[in-house]
Amino acid sequence: MSKRTVLTGITTTGTPHLGNYVGAIKPAIAASRDENVRSFYFLADYHALIKCQEPDLVARSTLEIAATWLALGLDTDTAVFYRQSDIPEITELTWLITCSTAKGLMNRAHAYKAAVQDNLDAGEDPDYAITMGLFSYPILMAADILMFNADHVPVGRDQVQHLEMARDIAQRFNHHYGELFTLPEAVVDEHVAVLPGQDGRKMSKSYGNTIPLWLPQKQLRKAIMKIVTNSLEPGEPKDPEGSALFAIYAAFATPAEREEMRAAFAAGIAWGEAKQRTFEKIDGELAEARERYEALMAQPGEIEETLRAGARRAREEAAPFMERLREAVGIRRLG
Ligand code: TRP
Repeated sequence: MSKRTVLTGITTTGTPHLGNYVGAIKPAIAASRDENVRSFYFLADYHALIKCQEPDLVARSTLEIAATWLALGLDTDTAVFYRQSDIPEITELTWLITCSTAKGLMNRAHAYKAAVQDNLDAGEDPDYAITMGLFSYPILMAADILMFNADHVPVGRDQVQHLEMARDIAQRFNHHYGELFTLPEAVVDEHVAVLPGQDGRKMSKSYGNTIPLWLPQKQLRKAIMKIVTNSLEPGEPKDPEGSALFAIYAAFATPAEREEMRAAFAAGIAWGEAKQRTFEKIDGELAEARERYEALMAQPGEIEETLRAGARRAREEAAPFMERLREAVGIRRLG
């Protein structure tokens, strides 16, 4: 039986936060240990340029995200870990599939449509501040996926449409040029918790409610102390349902610990005490990795080497496949 190929990309904008850790990074690293899969994880730095035109932020985020995955134990001997921009075949493939992708398909992308709608609502020109990068975003993402013939692509719900587009793009290309691409499937993990942020809404950079993953211990404690609760006094029973603090604790706890905390809520634990326990829980899980993270951040050259080694492995597949694709579309040696 041949191994399934699992691939996912992480856009290099921003600093990893607890929501990214619980919702994406931790499950992905665990999944990469499965011996029946070939995993490809990459830093989507070309995608970052679509959202962020601040060079230092893109560079910084790339370093932080790479260090994060390595510190948390991604095994780069099994998983292929690389930077999108180190694989020139991906941009080459982007063009090949751009030439057979219907513009109408891109017109339907939720992210693009939302940007147009925002412009219309603001009384602007519909194209205002919309770049071709934003418009073509799903094509670059399709190239990321099709380049390695991924079977499964773990993503958040917001990315499911992009996977459907990647399938459409692959089908159309296959129809025209022969069965070259595997049709990828999105994998949305229903069990992974959506972590609330300090204000109780989903933890997200756009809400400004995130707790960065690698805060030093003291600051981590402070950030947890700021999670919203209500005015119930110590001794008054508290409801775990709808409590951001409980949800955050639960994301780091074993099932038995979760039940204990549930009982403590019912018994009227003080908010301060529940926060302290939450801090200890999270800090206990992250403390060792935090040391590795800090050590890695002090040695960016080592991270660079690791990424380059990953890129070499990725290109061992991408380069010969790209030759077949070029041949298939008629870009051939003469004679
Ligand atoms: N667009 C994805 C996101 O914002 C990141 C990404 C880029 C990606 N290329 C990918 C994810 C390929 C999966 C496969 O989350």
